[in-house]
Amino acid sequence: MSGTQLIDQYGRKLDYLRLSVTDRCNFRCYYCMPEKGINFAPRTELLSFQEMYDLAAIFVQLGIKKIRITGGEPFVRNGIIPFLYRLSALSKPEEITITSNGTLSAKHQSALKEMGIRKINISLDSLDPVRFFSITRRDCFQQVYKGIFDLLQNGFEVKLNCVVAENKNVEDIMPFVKLTKDYPLSVRFLEEMPFNGSAESNERMMWDHQRIYDHIRLHEAAIIPLIDPVNSTSVNYRVNGYQGTFGIIPSFSRTFCGTCNRVRLSATGELRTCLYGPPVANLRDLIRNGADVIDIKEAIQQALSYRARDGFEAEKLSGSNIHTSMSSLGG
Ligand code: 5AD
Ligand code: SF4
Repeated sequence: MSGTQLIDQYGRKLDYLRLSVTDRCNFRCYYCMPEKGINFAPRTELLSFQEMYDLAAIFVQLGIKKIRITGGEPFVRNGIIPFLYRLSALSKPEEITITSNGTLSAKHQSALKEMGIRKINISLDSLDPVRFFSITRRDCFQQVYKGIFDLLQNGFEVKLNCVVAENKNVEDIMPFVKLTKDYPLSVRFLEEMPFNGSAESNERMMWDHQRIYDHIRLHEAAIIPLIDPVNSTSVNYRVNGYQGTFGIIPSFSRTFCGTCNRVRLSATGELRTCLYGPPVANLRDLIRNGADVIDIKEAIQQALSYRARDGFEAEKLSGSNIHTSMSSLGG
């Protein structure tokens, strides 16, 4: 079925799958889950690796070109490496990317390299060990920081994701920008979103994309805007003469929905056509109830026919689920 494409009712082509392989994580970032964790899914509710592989194969047949492996923390799931070997044989490995908190990624880098995976996003919200601890509730700064340079040295394309929030890491914004002077890193600053696994909202979100930009601009005049790929969620810049780049992702302001090309599959098989919206199908249940490939393709295509126009419309359908942890949604 070459040439098949997934297109939503607004004409947006979906060619990017974010596949969450676990809802578990070895961190407890304040913006993602409470210290005690969330109600993690029982093992039997998780997609098995075979189910994940079969679904990924279906998505590839439906025109998905890029797969991002997310969690939770992908590397905490047992068996992830053999799964990635299989997956990288299915899809073009250069289009498989991983988002990790960086505690375990460096350890697996030779396997990743061997299978052809070259791009990795590491979540890092502070360059200061004390602030890092207060954000993640784990004392792992040195391990993550060292791991980033190991990855770079090994030829990985590394992006750092940094959620900016008042009283947490505003002091880190400029040091992160400076880090791009001598390293070919891309640092992306994100607005905080409400997906923190508790009823507490982030209406205190005080650092929107404009404020982040203004802050950087105030401290650094030589900012050159870059030309971004069409589906980019980040607006990217380079400080003149720096090796790396920085970007800002309006993840809460949602200015990029018009070109959104993403679908998400949670570790429990929930399909979402918007991060802010409710699940629109459960593909695990379909498989376990005996659906065949054609049924599953139909279910996916049908879900797209009522995809919300943007993250605000999707949010209205979400109700109180708006606080579901990013770890369960699948980052
Ligand atoms: N707001 C913004 N970003 C978040 N992430 C997780 N939860 C939130 C949130 N509530 C980010 C992580 C990681 C990516 C998967 O999503 O920092 O970089
Ligand atoms: Fe896509 Fe929804 Fe995010 Fe917009 S808010 S970019 S539609 S996932």
